[in-house]
Amino acid sequence: MRKKVSIIGAGNVGSTAAHWLMAKELADVVMIDVVEGVPQGKALDLRQALPIERSDVHITGSNDYADTANSDVVIITAGIARKPGMSRDDLLHTNFKIMTDVVKNVVAYSPESILIVVSNPLDAMVQAAYRLSGFNRERVIGMAGILDSGRFKSFIAEELQVSVENMSCLVLGGHGDNMVPLIRYTTVASIPITELLSKERIDAIIQRTRDGGGEIVKYLKTGSAYYAPSAAAVEMAEAILKDKKKILPCAAYLEGEYGVNGYFMGVLCKLGAAGLEQIVEIRLSDEEHAALMKSAAAVKELCDVIGV
Ligand code: NAI
Ligand code: 2OP
Repeated sequence: MRKKVSIIGAGNVGSTAAHWLMAKELADVVMIDVVEGVPQGKALDLRQALPIERSDVHITGSNDYADTANSDVVIITAGIARKPGMSRDDLLHTNFKIMTDVVKNVVAYSPESILIVVSNPLDAMVQAAYRLSGFNRERVIGMAGILDSGRFKSFIAEELQVSVENMSCLVLGGHGDNMVPLIRYTTVASIPITELLSKERIDAIIQRTRDGGGEIVKYLKTGSAYYAPSAAAVEMAEAILKDKKKILPCAAYLEGEYGVNGYFMGVLCKLGAAGLEQIVEIRLSDEEHAALMKSAAAVKELCDVIGV
């Protein structure tokens, strides 16, 4: 029997995630939204692409959580997105209310599911989903690190005019201005990035990565990025659905790892059938650890505001 993935929020990220899931033939998909007609219309459109893509999954859209019953994975993208001039943190109160409603319904219909949270501000929203669901930490994971690392990799590949497949790099920490790109763990075809680019160029690429979401918001004006974010969420879902044991940077609930206790942060996670199967701790320099702690403090501040 095929696996079932529900996507809550059939907006830009949600419907594009449905598209990637369908194109990769990974699972049956149910899209849910509060707006009537939108999930139904997008699902119908995607269904008509199935014969063209030669994909045999089922895709439906609905406003009723009963249709999500017994999902294996639930990707939560419901919420408002950034507009020019807004930070991810500006979304906090509105999206917390939405998350409260979403998680109650998801838990009622899919008590065994694994949650992948995308809504912003990511680290606070995934913490909210964790607290509200009562699930263990293995089953609540946030998407950000794959996106931030993807941005970092794409900028370096463009700069060096080499294949993106040659990139290996890592962005840890919260999904915000204090994210922590790790230069020491950045290589291109196994060559340390410091051998290939000057410190000035590396610093500029790090800054562009930090501003990566904002750069797209400025162009789009009415919303934020969705192709790369949805691809990242689906990479996580794929690792879980196929029990790949894949190590990816994701937001996980830390219980002492890196000295952080009781908050979500972007760290290296092994994802498989059980969800978060292991947090892979890497050795950090004092400077890298201090940057991670600064990021943790920013996450804590947001979580404290909404009391999660
Ligand atoms: P969007 O506005 O296109 O879609 C959001 C959808 O959520 C809308 O269709 C809306 O009707 C729906 N929605 C609102 N309240 C709902 C509720 N109570 N139940 C079900 N659906 C509800 O926004 P987009 O671009 O898809 O972004 C979604 C969220 O993901 C935003 O918060 C955005 O900031 C965040 N995001 C996070 C990223 C990350 O790296 N973690 C990357 C990109 C986006
Ligand atoms: C991004 O980084 C808005 O968080 C979203 O594009």
